[in-house]
Amino acid sequence: MELHGKHIVITGGAGGIGRALVERFTREGARAIVVADADLEGARAVAAEFGATARKFDAGLESDVTGLIDFATEANGPIDVYFSNAGVGGPAAGPETPDGEWDRLWRIHVMSHVWASRILVPRMTEAGGGYLVNTSSAAGLLIQPSAMAYTVTKHAAVSVAEWLSMTYHHNGIRVSCVCPQAVQTRLLDEAMGQSSGASEVVAAAGVLQPADVAEAVVEGMRAERLLILPHKDVAERMVLRATDHEAWLASVRTLVEGGAAR
Ligand SMILES: NC(=O)c1ccc[n+]([C@@H]2O[C@H](COP(=O)([O-])OP(=O)(O)OC[C@H]3O[C@@H](n4cnc5c(N)ncnc54)[C@H](O)[C@@H]3O)[C@@H](O)[C@H]2O)c1
Repeated sequence: MELHGKHIVITGGAGGIGRALVERFTREGARAIVVADADLEGARAVAAEFGATARKFDAGLESDVTGLIDFATEANGPIDVYFSNAGVGGPAAGPETPDGEWDRLWRIHVMSHVWASRILVPRMTEAGGGYLVNTSSAAGLLIQPSAMAYTVTKHAAVSVAEWLSMTYHHNGIRVSCVCPQAVQTRLLDEAMGQSSGASEVVAAAGVLQPADVAEAVVEGMRAERLLILPHKDVAERMVLRATDHEAWLASVRTLVEGGAAR
């Protein structure tokens, strides 16, 4: 899809990757952009900079997802692109992660995309098409050694995107899932502060800037590719995971054990 002239809603747009997407989509000539975020002041600042509209929103609440879609539709007409990008790092922990955190990450990283598609698939079908995008992570295709709830919920986000794409492609609905590795944002800073496992992954992957991710997104959406992989080596490691699973697991264990030993 070409983004020129499109009405785009972006969640988690107050900073990091979301802010870079607003900037990039503005340059592409989007007709209207709604920036939704839990951080209203941040969303307002981004909206003011790029001539967009800000909306306070909690990605973990279905009523807020519904309210955001209704708000954007009333303001600008039918939504062409809904970009479900808001996300949180969650705890650097394994099964001891409290149920409340599992629930919070499940709602933000999975149900938020489901709730949006529940409303938008029928509307986009009626309109002859539309585009749903979610930001998962390389952790959703591979693994984030330090954070179990993040890894599991980001895997589910990839499945949501694949399922929607398989099922509604013939209705004119296009779906992409963005799976970056390390990107220089507040979320990454917080993850690095919490766990040495995160630093091992970052060191192995190299850190991109949010603008690099936005560039990959525009190119990936233009080609209507489901997986958008700003870090090229993620695809290589997916091949290893698929063709020699034990070797892939061993390579991740080496990273984790290297981190733990330091
Ligand atoms: N930075 C990375 O290394 C990296 C790597 C892979 C995937 N991601 C994903 O990219 C997306 C964007 O993250 P980022 O790196 O730009 O981090 P960020 O912290 O800079 O931005 C995340 C934004 O989401 C907002 N947000 C968080 N919880 C929310 C909620 N419940 N409701 C509404 N807004 C909420 C925050 O206020 C913030 O503006 C996330 O989904 C994240 O998981 C990031």
